[in-house]
Amino acid sequence: MKDIFERIQGTPGPLGQYQSQADGYFMFPQLVGEIGPEMEFNGKKVLNWSLNNYLGLANHPEVRKVDAEGAQKFGMAAPMGARMMSGDTVYHKELESKLANFVGKPCGYLTNYGYQAMVSIIDSLLTRRDVIVYDADAHACIYDGLRMHIGRRFSYKHNNMKDLRDVLVRASKFAEEQDGGILVVTEGVFGMSGNLGQLDEIVALKKEFNFRLLIDDAHGFGTMGKTGAGTAEHFDVTDQVDVHFATFAKSMAGIGAFVASTPEIIDYLRYNMRSQIYAKSLPMPMVIGALKRFELLQNKPELRNKLWEITHALQNGLKEKGFNIGTTKSPVTPVFLSGTVAHATNIVVDLRENYNIFCSLVLYPVVPKDVIMLRLIPTAVHTLEQVNRTIKVFSEVKAKLDAGKYNLPIPNMNLVKRK
Ligand SMILES: Cc1ncc(COP(=O)(O)O)c(C=O)c1O
Repeated sequence: MKDIFERIQGTPGPLGQYQSQADGYFMFPQLVGEIGPEMEFNGKKVLNWSLNNYLGLANHPEVRKVDAEGAQKFGMAAPMGARMMSGDTVYHKELESKLANFVGKPCGYLTNYGYQAMVSIIDSLLTRRDVIVYDADAHACIYDGLRMHIGRRFSYKHNNMKDLRDVLVRASKFAEEQDGGILVVTEGVFGMSGNLGQLDEIVALKKEFNFRLLIDDAHGFGTMGKTGAGTAEHFDVTDQVDVHFATFAKSMAGIGAFVASTPEIIDYLRYNMRSQIYAKSLPMPMVIGALKRFELLQNKPELRNKLWEITHALQNGLKEKGFNIGTTKSPVTPVFLSGTVAHATNIVVDLRENYNIFCSLVLYPVVPKDVIMLRLIPTAVHTLEQVNRTIKVFSEVKAKLDAGKYNLPIPNMNLVKRK
C-alpha cells in the first residue's frame, strides 16, 4: 500500500512538474497595481496584454464606486446561506432577469463561479441514457462536466462540422437505443485560439438531427454581436441556442456567472444544480457591482467599439508583419511561433525583462510540441501607441528567434526573479 502524500511528491502533476523552474514567473506571476494595460511585474512597469478585462470595466470609476458602496452597505457576508435556503434576494433576481433578457432568453439564473455552474449544468441536464457531444477544444469546466456524466460521450474535432455530423449519426443511434437525448456543447468564443464556435453550422444540423445546444459564451459575452449579447447574436442564432451560459470573469470583470433558457429549464436547473444548491449565495457587493457593470456594458457601446478598434489594429498589424495569428475571429489574439520550451521561455523573459511587455505563454499540451503560443488580450483601455509598440517589439523578437539568439538553455528563474 502507498502513502498518498509520498506518491504526490514524486508526481506533481502535468503543470506542477514545471513548478521549480516556473513558479512566480511563468506560473503564478504577481501583477501589481491598478488593473489595466500598465502594471508592475517583477519590480518594473510592464505593458500588460494578459487580462480578460475586455471592456476595461475592472477599474471604471463608476464600477469602483458601486463596488465600494455595495461592500459598505451590505458587507461581504450578505446574504448568508445558499439561495435555496436563505440566500435569495431581489438583487439576485433583478440581475438574472436582466441578463437573460439581454441574451434573448425568457429566464435566467445567477450562479457563483462559472466553472462550478457549467459542471452542474451538464450534470443536471443529463441522465445515463443521454449522450453528450462536445468540441474537443472545450474549456476544462466542460470536460469536468463530462466527467460527471455516466452515459455516453463523443467528442468532435475542433470546429470540424463534418466530424460533428459523423458523430451525431453515431450519437443518434446510441440515444435511440437508450431512449435518451443528445446535448451538444461548444464554446461561443474559444478562449485560447479566439476561434468562434460555428454556431450557424451547428444549429443547421438541427434540421437533420434531434439535439439540444448548450453554449459556454464566457469570452463572447460583451465582446461579440451587435449589442454585445454574444456569439449567438453574432451568428443570429439566438433562438436556436437552447441553453446559454456566460461568466462575469471576462467582460464583466467580476465574479459570478449566469445561465439562461426557458422558464421550465431554468426552474429545473435552480432545483438541481448541486454546486449552487449546496453553496453559499453570491455576496451582495458582487451582485450590485455586476448590475452596474451590466448597465455600462449595455449602455456604453463605445467601450465595445474601442475594444474592436484596438483588436483590429493589433491583429492587422501583426498579420502585416507576417505573424501567424491562427484563425481568430474575436479579440483573443494568439501569436504562433516555432520553437522549443527553451526558446519559448527565453523569449518570454526577454519580452518581460528587456522590452517590458507582459503576455501569457501557452505550451504543449495546449498547442502541439514545438509550437510556441503567445496570447495577447486587447482591451478597450489599451491605446494605439501600445499596439504599435508591441508589434515593433514582436517583430524584433521574431528576428532574434530566426537568427538563433534564443538558442539558449531554459533560463534559471532564480536569477531572473528579483524577489
Ligand atoms: C470558456 C470558459 N468557461 C468557463 C470559465 C470559468 O468561469 P469562472 O472564472 O467564472 O469560474 C472560464 C474562465 O473563467 C472560461 O474561459
